[in-house]
Amino acid sequence: APALSGHAQARTTDQAQAADLDPTTIPQFQQAMPVPPTLKPTSVSGKAAYYEMTMKEADAEILPGMLTRVRTFNGSFPSPVIKAASGQRVVIKQTNQLTVPTSIHLHGAHVPQSSDGSPMDLIAAGGGSKTYTYPNNQPHANMWFHDHAHHEEAETVYRGLYGLYLLTDEKEQSLNLPSGAYDVPIALRDGRFDDAGQLAYTMNDPNRTVLMANGKAWPYFKVAARKYRFRLFNTSNMRFFALKLSDNSPFQLIGSDGGLLEKPLEVTSVALSPGERADVVVDFSRYDAGTTLVLENTRPLRPGEPVEQLSKVLQFRVTGPARDTSVVPATLRTLPPMGTATVNRSFELYVDETGATNNAYINGQAYDMSRIDTEIEYGATEIWTIHNANTRLPHNFHVHLVQFRVLERGGQPVTSGPEVALKDTVAVQPGETVKIQATFTGYEGTYVYHCHMIDHAAMGMMGNFRVSATRS
Ligand code: C2O
Ligand code: CU
Repeated sequence: APALSGHAQARTTDQAQAADLDPTTIPQFQQAMPVPPTLKPTSVSGKAAYYEMTMKEADAEILPGMLTRVRTFNGSFPSPVIKAASGQRVVIKQTNQLTVPTSIHLHGAHVPQSSDGSPMDLIAAGGGSKTYTYPNNQPHANMWFHDHAHHEEAETVYRGLYGLYLLTDEKEQSLNLPSGAYDVPIALRDGRFDDAGQLAYTMNDPNRTVLMANGKAWPYFKVAARKYRFRLFNTSNMRFFALKLSDNSPFQLIGSDGGLLEKPLEVTSVALSPGERADVVVDFSRYDAGTTLVLENTRPLRPGEPVEQLSKVLQFRVTGPARDTSVVPATLRTLPPMGTATVNRSFELYVDETGATNNAYINGQAYDMSRIDTEIEYGATEIWTIHNANTRLPHNFHVHLVQFRVLERGGQPVTSGPEVALKDTVAVQPGETVKIQATFTGYEGTYVYHCHMIDHAAMGMMGNFRVSATRS
């Protein structure tokens, strides 16, 4: 076996003996996909809602007829959803009853460092707690919260510690998009199971072939013959999805990481790297009752994989007609102006792709939580050039605190398509270079950027940036 560096070694030993469950033996489309429950605040006062969550282990039926031990919020897998509105603060007291330290990051949020859930800001295992305050002084966005305790995050997120956070605002509410039971958040991911039905975790594992939607392996979902809004989240550790309907029919892409696009885009496929979100509207009114169709993934985990059967993500079962007064308007929103950049920086992402080590770097250095890699002047607008120095493996790039814009991909300006949007995570394919632009305002403090193939982040593909008004 290849030598593994440091923390990676410790994380693999307990899995060494278990035999894999053959994923082709797992029955597909047997379990209904649940819609995660919305968490109720413990109290609401003025402009703030207060919540309490307890991180603890629980058993969940991910595979039909088997129980899997998972790490959860409130014992619920999938986690309850938090629904918030711009201008209304959310305060969450998180208590950690797990056996590992955690740090809860709200992905996509514009928050002070003290509530960012940074890798260095841990909640102690066995009863530690911390209160996070989310100001929600930003536009609507489909966000998600997940563990970020350095070295532990990859395994802890993989074992279930993530949940969805839907922030709305007046602009979004003024549109008559599909709502209520017709607005369905879906967290997609993959995993690998042992023959006892337990999630098998090995850092940087290339064999996670079981696909899950809202915590069920290959579920089905009943839909009426009308329009649905699906808010898709890629909560996988490492997997890139390219999603399409089995009949190749078009659907509308209406939003990305940081909320709605300016205009809906008609597409037949949507790409999602780990951490990214896509908001889509699918119109089932063209199908007869009794029709089934499947959301399929066409991007293999690695060349030659997955076999066709495993690439079916979720089956839709059309039940029958239903009233539909929703519309997808031709204009959804206006994106904020971009400002003029005054600073340029480069980031080179590299992971040892020989398999000899689990070493991963940004600009030749593995993450060190005591090192500031990038000093940013408060208020600065910067262009970051991100290069994937690997030739076979993709990466992506996520920046805390800001929503950025994608300027260029592979030397071509990005002026149309799904990436003309507010983004917080961007895919960078093997050998590719992507340019992004962001403005660093709102809070001073230290935050991270990293590859959101979260195993890569755990292996060191992460850096600290510090925003400060007075340059050191
Ligand atoms: Cu979704 Cu730094 O993470
Ligand atoms: Cu990576």
